[in-house]
Amino acid sequence: MAAPTSTHVAKYHAGNVPAAADGRLFSDVFLRNSPPLIAALAPLLAGRCGTVLEIGAGTGQHAGACALAFPSLTWQASDPDATHRASVSAWAAHLRLASPPPIALDAASDWATLPEITGIAPLTAVVAMNVIHIAPFAVAEGIVAGAGKSLAQGGLLIFYGPFKVHGAHIGDGNAGFDAGLRADNTEWGLRDVAEIEALARPAGLEFAALQAMPANNRLFVLRKT
Ligand SMILES: C[S@@+](CC[C@H](N)C(=O)[O-])C[C@H]1O[C@@H](n2cnc3c(N)ncnc32)[C@H](O)[C@@H]1O
Repeated sequence: MAAPTSTHVAKYHAGNVPAAADGRLFSDVFLRNSPPLIAALAPLLAGRCGTVLEIGAGTGQHAGACALAFPSLTWQASDPDATHRASVSAWAAHLRLASPPPIALDAASDWATLPEITGIAPLTAVVAMNVIHIAPFAVAEGIVAGAGKSLAQGGLLIFYGPFKVHGAHIGDGNAGFDAGLRADNTEWGLRDVAEIEALARPAGLEFAALQAMPANNRLFVLRKT
């Protein structure tokens, strides 16, 4: 695999975050974010079958929670970072899930052509939580382009995280967060919903929903036409 385009892959590592001896890493915000996320995903995913590809799965805690919450789906996690993929697998083992092993996937690449993806496409959904603001814009571009190629008709591309809307931040906290991200890396920063929609149309995706989530986050959903 080509080197990931985001240096943010180093975020979740033993030493940076709590870690268990079996390789499980622990996000400090997972426990707060997971219940509203599952509740918001339920009307979109519950009862669907097929495979959901999660991009940038990080610790794998969301992958585990989603696999438990949506048993009719196969939850296929991915991440470019080997330590993160080890944590995803460790969480799956800890939760006694039969989820497939995580895929090494750099979202800025032409990932839809990977044999691991063509072998499971067409996908029911592609999900990226807390990824595109902590990565170069090429990652957002790659996610949208790859989703356009790999989703089934009517399939969903779901982003979760902080967004700008009509060029404006939602809440003072997001403005400060954005400034901090851009100070860390000039290629990072909150994305505007309109920027993503502009990528979506040529990829064969249309706007489906923009839902408010706690802490000024959004669930942003696009649908394959
Ligand atoms: C802030 S973490 C979010 C992890 C998880 N989705 C969550 O919400 O807890 C961002 C994740 O994006 C991954 N990432 C960074 N660059 C990426 C890229 N180019 N393609 C795919 N994932 C990437 C990182 O390895 C990391 O796991």
